[in-house]
Amino acid sequence: AFALCAPAAAQNFPTKPITLIVPFAAGGPSDVIARLLGEHMGRTLGQQVVVENVAGAGGTAGAKRLATAEPDGHTLLIHHLALAAAPALYNNLGYDTQTAFAPVGLVNTGPMVVAGKLALPPVDGKAFFPFAKQQADKLTVAHAGVGSNAHLCAVLLSQALGVKFAQVAYRGTGPAMNDLVAGQVDVLCDQSTTAVPQVQGDKIRAYAVTSAERLDVLPNVPTAEQAGTKIDMTIWHGLYAPKGTPAAALDKLNAALTAALKQPSVLERFKAVGTSAFPQAEWTREAHAKRFSAEVAKWAASLKAAGVTQQNVN
Ligand code: MLT
Repeated sequence: AFALCAPAAAQNFPTKPITLIVPFAAGGPSDVIARLLGEHMGRTLGQQVVVENVAGAGGTAGAKRLATAEPDGHTLLIHHLALAAAPALYNNLGYDTQTAFAPVGLVNTGPMVVAGKLALPPVDGKAFFPFAKQQADKLTVAHAGVGSNAHLCAVLLSQALGVKFAQVAYRGTGPAMNDLVAGQVDVLCDQSTTAVPQVQGDKIRAYAVTSAERLDVLPNVPTAEQAGTKIDMTIWHGLYAPKGTPAAALDKLNAALTAALKQPSVLERFKAVGTSAFPQAEWTREAHAKRFSAEVAKWAASLKAAGVTQQNVN
């Protein structure tokens, strides 16, 4: 009887609302992308997608929550390159990054924006980098926990300038951005998703983007290279289920995700904040799994080469 029931259960999937774990605070880039996708995927799946923010420890607390969730497709996680970088940074994650997750599909990719509070003296990227080098011991750089995109970008900035900054860790760049706007911290390197609207609203100042080309939506902001330094960083988000989730449920989730990524309204929202969907050839579960393994290996090697040592999750 079990053999007959199991496929039927997967065919009826989803049978209840889906929980989408966001491993960072509300209002940050992961949260913004999750809510946008969740709305469209919920419509396709005929069940509500409910976002739950499980923030802490650079996104690893949310990942751990997914690793121990029921593998039936009703609990999902949106995460980004920090999921792949975490094993190089933490020695007691409580899950095996390479095997604990079933990749559902890649979501979006885009650059980081190096930004400062408005009261900071430099008015552009060319002035900012020499200033940051000279005044490093007086500047505070905000991030979203060790291993977060904002943290890795801050590490790249430190390396590029050969200096160390005082770092302030938040549970996501949502609250970090609030403090940057309020002038409580000096610098934040955040995803374009949440940095672009603040720059356009004149709430913060963008000094550089970490992509090879300028962003259409920030035409006056130079690339880091144009501003005289080298910070090369491209972020990505993906959707994950726990390992052991039935293939039929994963296929339905992937179909709902790709349907969302074809929605003109979703693509317009992405474009408006300088982020993009992956090329369609990379929308499959297999392409996501392949990229994910490669990213885990890449970050293990590059963080080891950078001499970064592991720390405990606390
Ligand atoms: C967030 O949503 O807070 C970000 O994705 C954090 C980060 O990785 O910088």
